[in-house]
Amino acid sequence: MGQGKSKGKDKSSSKSSSKGSSSSSNTKATEAPVQSEPTQNGKQPTTKEEKKDAKNIDWDAPVLFSKNDATVGKDDFELLKVIGKGSFGKVMQVRKKDDGQIYAMKVLRKEAIIARKQVDHTRAEKAILQKIRHPFIVKLNFAFQTEDKLYMVLDFVNGGELFFHLKNEGKFSEERIRLYAAEISLALNHLHSMDIVYRDLKPENILIDSDGHICITDFGLSKEITPEEGATHTFCGTPEYLAPEVLKGQGHGCPVDWWSLGTLIYEMFTGLPPFYSQNINIMYQKILNGELRFPDFMSPDACDLLEGFLTRDPAKRLGSDFNQVKNHPFFKGIDWDKLERKEIVPSFKPKVSGKMDTDQIDPMFTSEQAVDSLVEASALSGDVKFDGFTYVGESALGN
Ligand SMILES: Nc1ncnc2c1ncn2[C@@H]1O[C@H](COP(=O)(O)OP(=O)(O)OP(=O)(O)O)[C@@H](O)[C@H]1O
Ligand SMILES: [Mg+2]
Repeated sequence: MGQGKSKGKDKSSSKSSSKGSSSSSNTKATEAPVQSEPTQNGKQPTTKEEKKDAKNIDWDAPVLFSKNDATVGKDDFELLKVIGKGSFGKVMQVRKKDDGQIYAMKVLRKEAIIARKQVDHTRAEKAILQKIRHPFIVKLNFAFQTEDKLYMVLDFVNGGELFFHLKNEGKFSEERIRLYAAEISLALNHLHSMDIVYRDLKPENILIDSDGHICITDFGLSKEITPEEGATHTFCGTPEYLAPEVLKGQGHGCPVDWWSLGTLIYEMFTGLPPFYSQNINIMYQKILNGELRFPDFMSPDACDLLEGFLTRDPAKRLGSDFNQVKNHPFFKGIDWDKLERKEIVPSFKPKVSGKMDTDQIDPMFTSEQAVDSLVEASALSGDVKFDGFTYVGESALGN
């Protein structure tokens, strides 16, 4: 998955500015999210003192998970296949031994999370996933930890990444884009209504379910912003999809997600994001100042929608008033209530034969042996705690 189409973007081009170098040479060569805290120098801790500082975190902060007795653990799951890889670990298809249910298990190495100063983001990922219930957002069923790792057990969504399909097909039809854009819009509006900004919308984090509906995964960069706060300042996201206000470091909020959606819609129409360049600095310049050009085949309504989402001033950007999105001519004919109930049948249905089927997942992952690798004993000292991470979802408890 390292290269896009020959005329398309080289997905490994932006790796140099990613969260940090991966310890695995097999890590998916894709746009890893960029990340830097304004108060930190962005470097990985290297000296003993720096490592100690990185661990010296208030594990009892409210966003850390509440204390709970572990009623489920890694031994309750049989590992089947690797289905994805990221900066901190991997995602595996697993079977729960007692009831045979198939899930996706995201395994994160604590050492890597601490080294790259992602502790707060990981806390937020689990806490946000735990409270979100939405038809187009992945569902968390269990979360638990061992000394070295954090585990999040999600519904397994097996129609493949939007990225996988877009790479194979080059571009999508307007009808298909309309449905995906509308479903993603509903999910974003739901998150924003809960003061959650998602911040990493891109084709790799959008899955297609077995019926062809959208399912957003990877809440690793999402954040709750209280209305009093209004904005957050962490420079993070994935280069191609970054909104201008993030690049300018002005502080950002929910409108960044509408910008990323605009970028994503453009990419579904053309195969490339609107301001794409292999040179990351040129790309940033284009995001800030470049002219937005549309190919002839895009309908006037589509162009107008994208001009709305890709408005550089976040205060004037389409999205904050969700009625304006719903009533936009591009979405004419969409019954939003039916859409939310998943009653609009997608024109594209992935070829999957059942829950076990991983045909729509890149073989570069599924060909790998599914193992929960050991972390070296020296990697973590005993005082590192992810208190309260353990979580057993309501419906899962009822199983
Ligand atoms: N519930 C799921 N069902 C099927 N596949 C999934 C699921 N969750 C994640 N994946 C696959 O695993 C990949 C990596 O997962 P995810 O995006 O959550 O991790 P990541 O990119 O490493 O996150 P981070 O930004 O925290 O580094 C996804 O791009 C997707 O292909
Ligand atoms: Mg991801």
